[in-house]
Amino acid sequence: MNAVDIINRKRLGGVLTEEQIEYMVMGFTEGMIPDYQMSALLMAVCLKGMTKEETVQLTRIMRDSGETVDLSEIKGIKVDKHSTGGVGDKTTLIVAPVAAACGVPIAKMSGRGLGFTGGTVDKMESIPGFVTSMERSRFIESVNETGIAVIGQTGHIAPADKKMYALRDVTGTTESISLITSSIMSKKLAAGADAIVLDVKCGSGAFMKNYEDARELAEWMVDIGRGNGKRMTAVISDMEQPLGRAVGNALEVQEAIEVLKGGGPEDIRNLSLGLAAEMILLGDRADGGRANAEELAREALESGRALEKFRRFVENQGGNPDITEDTALFAQPAFAVEVRAEEAGYVTGLDALQIGLASQHAGAGRETKEDEIDMAAGIILDKKTGDEICAGDLLCTVYGNDKEKTEAGARESRKAYSIGLQRPEKRELIKEIID
Ligand code: URA
Repeated sequence: MNAVDIINRKRLGGVLTEEQIEYMVMGFTEGMIPDYQMSALLMAVCLKGMTKEETVQLTRIMRDSGETVDLSEIKGIKVDKHSTGGVGDKTTLIVAPVAAACGVPIAKMSGRGLGFTGGTVDKMESIPGFVTSMERSRFIESVNETGIAVIGQTGHIAPADKKMYALRDVTGTTESISLITSSIMSKKLAAGADAIVLDVKCGSGAFMKNYEDARELAEWMVDIGRGNGKRMTAVISDMEQPLGRAVGNALEVQEAIEVLKGGGPEDIRNLSLGLAAEMILLGDRADGGRANAEELAREALESGRALEKFRRFVENQGGNPDITEDTALFAQPAFAVEVRAEEAGYVTGLDALQIGLASQHAGAGRETKEDEIDMAAGIILDKKTGDEICAGDLLCTVYGNDKEKTEAGARESRKAYSIGLQRPEKRELIKEIID
């Protein structure tokens, strides 16, 4: 077999055989196929696409490139949740304790952020003392005892994806339905849960910018999961503007705690309850259908049981549970730069991608995998789409420990706001549930 022939075949829009896909993926993972040939193939896939059958084969090859986790020692139906990546998305921190408080065991592997999207592992590590790695036996024991454990993904899970993702990130080849499907589903299938709720984001701050592409991505992932014996639901949700008001690691954990205490912004609260309800349904913990699952999720939140689960989970992983009562225990930023409106009107748009980039500029994200994150850096959005403003009103505040970076974050944040004279129509947060 020859790599150039395979690249040319895809470049001309041909369909690859399973052997050809395996030759390229495993050859690249094991260091025989160089970066430049794999990049050429990835670009050809982005431009010409892959059939669903090719995508199923690619997913299996990537899953089998590493270890698969056996969670059978955990009692009950293990339900995982995965977001395709967004800005201000702290739902896992809320959804996991809510679902766990309703009896759904959560044994979750999460990723780190890259580029403008944040990662749950980085957010969790902003809690003083919290550790995101543990031995397999302790991981299983933690879920059986406290109902939740969240760890960082190890390099042993789908190593082919790890290498391909890093290459895609720097070669402009992230936005392909086949590549996103195989990347997410190879890891999810290897991570051992029985059921998966996917939060497929759609909008400027997501990989899928429009609804049709997000829907196709959701359907493909659901089909591939079901084809591999998993219970699957996909929720398509809006990512045109950031979720909630906080963007940045420690700030997002503090906002998640506000929601767990019964407050917090409405959008993040509603999406979290919707996702938790789907997890409760897939985990067979509601016998009265979706309405009953939603009621159970709401009750877990309002009674304080989800907050209590969160505290136990934090403590079990070495973190200080008192962060729920005292925000001063989080890393504090040295600088705060306010961004104020120059004109009156309505916020007609708040570009999620631009806010993600601004937060990254302030130090909350990485530009390369090696970059250190400033846990205290980020943005608090005072005004969001639809809000009425007067000249001089506070739009947002950017925080950080590096003065220049914080100021750069503020300059970039301003560009995210569109101001006009007409109040825009309200967008649906949950656009569709595919179950
Ligand atoms: N998340 C992933 O894990 N992979 C992608 O390709 C996109 C989002």
